[in-house]
Amino acid sequence: MVRIDDLRKRYKDNLQDGVLILSKLLNVDKSYIYSFGEREVPREIEDRFIELMTKREEGYPIQYILEEKDFMGLNFYVKEGVLIPRFDTETLVEYIIEYINENHRDNNIRVLDLCSGSGAISLSIGHYCKNTFVYGVDISEVAIEVSNINKEKFNLTNVRFLKGNLFKALEGLGLEGQYEIIVSNPPYISKGEIESLSNTVKDFEPLLALDGGQDGLDFYRRITKESKGYLKNEGLLIYEIGYNQGEDVKDILFKEGFKDISIIKDLQGHDRLVFGFKRN
Ligand SMILES: C[S@@+](CC[C@H](N)C(=O)[O-])C[C@H]1O[C@@H](n2cnc3c(N)ncnc32)[C@H](O)[C@@H]1O
Repeated sequence: MVRIDDLRKRYKDNLQDGVLILSKLLNVDKSYIYSFGEREVPREIEDRFIELMTKREEGYPIQYILEEKDFMGLNFYVKEGVLIPRFDTETLVEYIIEYINENHRDNNIRVLDLCSGSGAISLSIGHYCKNTFVYGVDISEVAIEVSNINKEKFNLTNVRFLKGNLFKALEGLGLEGQYEIIVSNPPYISKGEIESLSNTVKDFEPLLALDGGQDGLDFYRRITKESKGYLKNEGLLIYEIGYNQGEDVKDILFKEGFKDISIIKDLQGHDRLVFGFKRN
């Protein structure tokens, strides 16, 4: 048997991850690891710990090991096969919550989140805006499984996840012209840029969540065109975008006839959101 302190010393160059992983394996709080260093760890936990630390050193994301990621103050379950929610995406969700509170505080509204992944956007909106009914759509089986687990975890009944290829998932449900808001954080990395991503992202997160086609704009073109059939008059279409895609996405909305189109920057001053309105 080995002591907690011995394991900590062995991984002193990556102490932070070591403490997180060991506390998960022992099912204890982080403070236990610091406070009870002399306690011994069973052999199978030691072996599993070394295995996970080796994976971590190879770039495997800590969030997949811990099976969790905080987003908008909610603790999301995540696992390999689903994109880990990003801090940048909180800008998008915060903007939508503010928009709902200012414009739809007193009425019940429908929101559609295309490419919903872990459910980060859909479930945060459903949690913070109880007057919404949110539909999340993703083509990935794992994403739908994970988002339904998160829906249960947060005990939300005003969110529904559908598996399918963008608007095809809604066919036959009679939801044409029914949405006040359509939101998407779609795959938006261009073919050329995928190679230049860090190996933690490129080697371990799903390509399906990243690949936005040759110029990274495929999903913006498809969604913008088809969204007009699903938005109500005065409905909002809003996207998260890559830092260098603001003008291109704005142009896509403009060509499809959207009005009052704007680009919003994130806290680092990068273009991060594009939105516009359907006006008949
Ligand atoms: C960038 S991730 C965003 C995930 C989540 N919305 C978030 O912000 O964390 C894009 C998601 O699009 C999904 N996706 C890719 N192609 C799709 C398609 N044709 N229809 C629906 N979802 C798709 C991927 O499975 C992935 O979950």
